[in-house]
Amino acid sequence: MPFQSKSKIVFLLCLLVFVFSACQQTPKNDKSSNKTNNKQEQLSKKTTSQPSSVNNKQLNTANKLIASVGDEAIAKVDFKKIYSVHCIACHGPKGNMSIAGSKALTKSKLDLASIVAQVYHGKGTMVAYKGTLSDAEIVAVSKYVKELQQ
Ligand code: HEC
Repeated sequence: MPFQSKSKIVFLLCLLVFVFSACQQTPKNDKSSNKTNNKQEQLSKKTTSQPSSVNNKQLNTANKLIASVGDEAIAKVDFKKIYSVHCIACHGPKGNMSIAGSKALTKSKLDLASIVAQVYHGKGTMVAYKGTLSDAEIVAVSKYVKELQQ
């Protein structure tokens, strides 16, 4: 009998500690989940307020890329070959097709930096070409896209 009442007390104590800690944790959890909700809200706000093409950080990278590549390096690039190997599949031989959900380049209004940014970083189903193409190749093929624009 004394053993039983002792274990009852221990059980009750455990229960108390459990309830107490549970009560303390609930508001904490609420706070952190609120935080992540806020973060997610901020993120979605950010993405919706972004310009439709590329973000500023990507534009900065693109401008640096353009500045770092010399005219000579660009002149050496066979941009038509690069285009036909890497871009034709989705944009068509004259850049006027929208295959696989892509946009017709002839109708594009983007400036050179935005084009470089898009080719370098990719967007949507369009893959990023950094690592695949050299900086000079990316700038050269982007200049070609600029020529294709009507
Ligand atoms: C796998 C298909 C695919 C390939 C290959 C591809 N693109 Fe794209 N491209 C797309 C898609 C899809 C979009 C639209 C992306 C979006 O806005 O969501 C796009 C958009 C673009 C745009 C932006 C047009 C605008 O006005 O918004 C440019 C510039 C562009 N591509 C250039 C290129 C170049 C240069 C290459 C080759 C180096 C290339 N693309 C290869 C699918 C592709």
